Amino acid sequence: MASILWIGLAALGLFIFYWKSIYEALCERHRLIKAMAKIPGPPAIPILGVTWMLKWKVEGLVDQLFEWFSIYTNEGVGAINLWLGPQPMVIVINAEYIKAVLESNTLISKGKEYSIIERWLGTGLLTSTGDKWRNRRKMLTPAFHFNILNSFVFSHDKEAQIFVNTIEKFSDNDKIFDIFPFVKRCALDIICETSMGTKINAQINYDHPYVMAVQRMNELSFLYTRMPWMWLKPIWYASGYGNEYDHTLKLVTDFTRKVIEERGREFRQNPPQHPTNGSIEGTKKRYAFLDLLLSVQDEGKLTTEDIREEVDTFMFEGHDTTSSGMGWTLWTLAHHPEIQEKVIQEIDAVFGDSNRPCTPDDLKELKYLENCIKESLRLFPPVPLFTRRVEEDVECEPTLAVAKRSILSNCAMRFTTASAHP
Ligand code: HEM
Repeated sequence: MASILWIGLAALGLFIFYWKSIYEALCERHRLIKAMAKIPGPPAIPILGVTWMLKWKVEGLVDQLFEWFSIYTNEGVGAINLWLGPQPMVIVINAEYIKAVLESNTLISKGKEYSIIERWLGTGLLTSTGDKWRNRRKMLTPAFHFNILNSFVFSHDKEAQIFVNTIEKFSDNDKIFDIFPFVKRCALDIICETSMGTKINAQINYDHPYVMAVQRMNELSFLYTRMPWMWLKPIWYASGYGNEYDHTLKLVTDFTRKVIEERGREFRQNPPQHPTNGSIEGTKKRYAFLDLLLSVQDEGKLTTEDIREEVDTFMFEGHDTTSSGMGWTLWTLAHHPEIQEKVIQEIDAVFGDSNRPCTPDDLKELKYLENCIKESLRLFPPVPLFTRRVEEDVECEPTLAVAKRSILSNCAMRFTTASAHP
């Protein structure tokens, strides 16, 4: 009895000591709930929010979200409010409303859903915020100069040739086949060569441990993102996914570390020649991605782990998105044979009967194909949703104020996302 009394007194003491912070937190929570109530959305229940009605399977979830978005769009609503458990998320569905996010210098912190990839990508460009993000973005932008990108057209061409040879056998019969795994392995080979300067030959070596591991990491990360109850560590590990994730994570990051180590040795013994065509001054600006990072490391500004997180970020962002874009472009062309015919005519006009490699100048001529790719990206955006953690109140439109501590997300249903890139 005495011990219960002591515990009660201690709890009361703590409450009195912290009452100001507790009171402020409760007021802040009340303000958040009141602000969110002004934004329309599917009905939420206490604690679970709308998660109880979310579909489990990806296909079902996508259909459900699209249904919600079209209902609210038809009602003229620009943003909807979804309570994911105790966490509110404002989904912006009108391109005008997302302007405030994309143009903001302060709304740069990513949402909580990114935390699962943070263990893999660290706080690389995709997941970092504040000054770290600003400095890294400035540092990495030169690696996207046209001269650098043009110098990799040859690698793209070589891998595209392997891709075509691999799928050619399917053209002789009417059997349906899934082209996406082929596209994905092609994209992975290209990004490995262009960003890390290493070859994994995923298009030939299907079961390469790195290839399998990257695929599994993507699956597990998406599973984690769409099931908020997995955010609780005991559930994550009890489900078995946690241990599998840890094991796969080690495999992927060890591979990148090894590549960086080998390339670093080579870089220091035999510094690369840089492309000399072009007008940008300064040698460092002309380094390709990993070499650029290694050169900055030599100035003492980056650790090997800093490099590792950026390389893994580019490996992930660079192949997952592009393969999805390429896959949907092929799918869209297959469903519109008349458009496909026009693309073929354009390619024939540039290359004729020649099997010569493609050059940067050729790419400029393929305007109709470029439009088809852009239209496919618009119709089927590889990154249909991305989020920001709101750390200050923000007004997306005079009619929509989003309170701090909520998550702001855009739905790229009607616009492309090129502005995300350096
Ligand atoms: C069709 C292809 C692509 C699409 C649709 C796409 C889409 C996106 C989107 C929507 C974001 C913003 C994410 C956010 O703010 O939360 C983003 C960021 C990023 N993407 Fe891509 N991406 C593509 C290709 C690539 C490629 C090829 C690379 C690298 C070689 C890359 C590297 C990055 C990086 C590093 C970021 C973070 C940028 C930053 O926050 O400053 N992406 N991408």
